[in-house]
Amino acid sequence: MRVSARAQRIEPFYVMEVAKAAQTLAHAVAGSAEPMIFLNIGEPDFTAPPAVAEAATRAIADGSTQYTQALGMPALRERISGWYAERFGVQVPARRIVVTAGASAALQLACLALVEAGDEMLMPDPSYPCNRHFVSAAEGTAILIPTTAQERYQLSSDKVRAAWGKKTRGVLLASPSNPTGTSIAPEELRRIHEVVQAHGGITLIDEIYLGLSYEEQFGHTALAIADDIISINSFSKYFNMTGWRLGWMVVPEQLVPVIERLAQNLFICASTIAQHAALACFEPESIAEYERRRAAFKARRDYFIPELQQLGLHVPVMPDGAFYAWADGTQAATRLGVQGSWDLAYALMDRAHLAVTPGRDFGTHEPERFLRFSTASSMDHLQEAVRRLRALLA
Ligand SMILES: Cc1ncc(COP(=O)(O)O)c(C=O)c1O
Repeated sequence: MRVSARAQRIEPFYVMEVAKAAQTLAHAVAGSAEPMIFLNIGEPDFTAPPAVAEAATRAIADGSTQYTQALGMPALRERISGWYAERFGVQVPARRIVVTAGASAALQLACLALVEAGDEMLMPDPSYPCNRHFVSAAEGTAILIPTTAQERYQLSSDKVRAAWGKKTRGVLLASPSNPTGTSIAPEELRRIHEVVQAHGGITLIDEIYLGLSYEEQFGHTALAIADDIISINSFSKYFNMTGWRLGWMVVPEQLVPVIERLAQNLFICASTIAQHAALACFEPESIAEYERRRAAFKARRDYFIPELQQLGLHVPVMPDGAFYAWADGTQAATRLGVQGSWDLAYALMDRAHLAVTPGRDFGTHEPERFLRFSTASSMDHLQEAVRRLRALLA
């Protein structure tokens, strides 16, 4: 069967390939003294709080399960608007908020609405792999720009200015970032936006980890900077609802009808049950629970990253958000007699039953040097992982 060039351009999501191998091994070692510990997948070990689960059950029992408007339930759009005001002190009118089937659908809608065939989008290397594939699926090209630890693995305004070419359409940023957990400093983001604006381009920013910030300096939304910034968000991470497939985007007002038309045709609407459930995310008891969980994520970061440093798995920049550690595996690979982070990931899987993600997914600049550890796992698991790493690497 002839497969489209578009589909062929999409590379495999290696995180998932490694996860499959880890799952297979997990069955084999399930009853052993060292069952598999999964530090590879970027999803919270917490699930939706009770009030959210109850709201979903109620929606099903009441038969509130029919299609919603393509832009999402008005009440939910209002709640999200309220969250921006209360938490971030930013006025984002509900009419600019579009509820989507996860950040993934929002990114797809944004790229289909704004990227022409042949357009180029600048993004940092390393970055979340699917983001470059959303651009590619819209017939555009992702231009990966190597970043450094000094830049917090984010684009700088100087680099955006230098990289801007005839085909450049805009930037696709993520803050805090997956795989590094580092954010763009607000002042730098403002400067990037000025460069983009001067070229008449678009600033698209993936803020899916926005609520999961641990440093006051970084926990701000880009929407505070300007109304023409497009922000992508989700109920997956801070709200612990990965499998519910619910997210949202904030777009400039003139883009709303364009996104609405696309969303009507491509998705009809996001899950109605998930939308009803999400209303309960903003109840005080749910927010209190989310904040306790955020504190738990911070405690895990504060424990795990210094331990990695001590083991020679150097983390060049302390993550300020999300739940990742981007660690240099060079020393560990040498210690274990393997070359590069791909083989190192498999060595850790085979010898210590630890699943981690090699850098290959996230870019082409230094993929063989880095590993991504996810700290979205319990403190017990993290402590046991450290014990095993110490036994292997010390
Ligand atoms: C940076 C980033 N963007 C988008 C997504 C997709 O999220 P969603 O579950 O909302 O589709 C992820 C998921 O890991 C992510 O890390």
